[in-house]
Amino acid sequence: MMSTTLSCIAQQGKHGAAMMPIIQGVGRAATEIAYLLRGAVFRGALGAAGGENVQGEQQQKIDVLSDEIFLEEMRSTGFVCAVGSEEQEELQVIEEYADAEYLVLVDPLDGSSNLDIDGPVGTIFSVVRRISDRSQRPVESDTLQAGRNVIAAGYVLYGPATMLVCSVGAGVHGFTYNPNSARFELSHPDMRMPASGGYYSVNEANADKWLDGLKDKFVMMKQRTGLGMRYVGSMVADMHRTLLKGGVFLYPADEKNPNGKLRLLYEAIPMGFLVVQAGGKAMSRGGSVLDIQPEGLHQRVPVYLGSADAVDMLA
Ligand code: AHG
Ligand code: MN
Ligand code: MN
Repeated sequence: MMSTTLSCIAQQGKHGAAMMPIIQGVGRAATEIAYLLRGAVFRGALGAAGGENVQGEQQQKIDVLSDEIFLEEMRSTGFVCAVGSEEQEELQVIEEYADAEYLVLVDPLDGSSNLDIDGPVGTIFSVVRRISDRSQRPVESDTLQAGRNVIAAGYVLYGPATMLVCSVGAGVHGFTYNPNSARFELSHPDMRMPASGGYYSVNEANADKWLDGLKDKFVMMKQRTGLGMRYVGSMVADMHRTLLKGGVFLYPADEKNPNGKLRLLYEAIPMGFLVVQAGGKAMSRGGSVLDIQPEGLHQRVPVYLGSADAVDMLA
């Protein structure tokens, strides 16, 4: 039986045809990054790059290399005018396609603190239509759109298998890289967030510093749901498990990170878009993640993502 590849996205919803070339570009970047990860230790590519990113965090060499790979593959689609990346302070304009219609937001390598222990890491992306006129160069304000405007979003999980999970607004579909065919093939059609069960997933070491009266609600949630706990420390891995098994992933605000740690544009919004498309709930401080009006490329927000029953007990 013929396998279903990323090209099936063209038939999904009203944006599938336009989004397919961009998601195929993500698939090419994912294949290159997966290859880079497998041999990184032998090329001295693990470890710190020596610089700090705009977040003030230690940049790993592979953060930088993944960012370069992703930008090149977005350029090669011919449909992307600019990329907003966790690893770049400013918007990266793709000069030869500055009149193209779409912008991509990306966390090129998520969970990179897991690299030295050979843990799972990921790439997270979302796609928005530009606001500025196509005769102008794209500007940062083109990226500052609420999650309700997102046209496509997804993630790559570099685990025992390399998976690409994405949505163009017509449900969430998981593709697994098949080394025999050298293509991503549909393996998890129409992923749905389980309404109950699963795990809670949070860095509980921060509990005494949580804000917004969360700690009492968290204790109550654990007692009422009886959920088990799993935490990898890589958002993509923790969110992939939450999508498949149910439960809740949270990164709350705390005294150290008064707006939480995760970034709105390239972590919270793409993951929130997927969770809502899969029938779950995506909340931040006092409302949906998808309703927050972004004010900056690297803005941080608290997130509560997962099965509605567990999220409602916390957010
Ligand atoms: P990144 O590697 O892109 O900076 O993201 C790391 C994030 C996210 O992947 C994960 O959920 C979170 O950091 C873990 O933070 P703690 O180590 O503070 O728990
Ligand atoms: Mn990240
Ligand atoms: Mn990252």
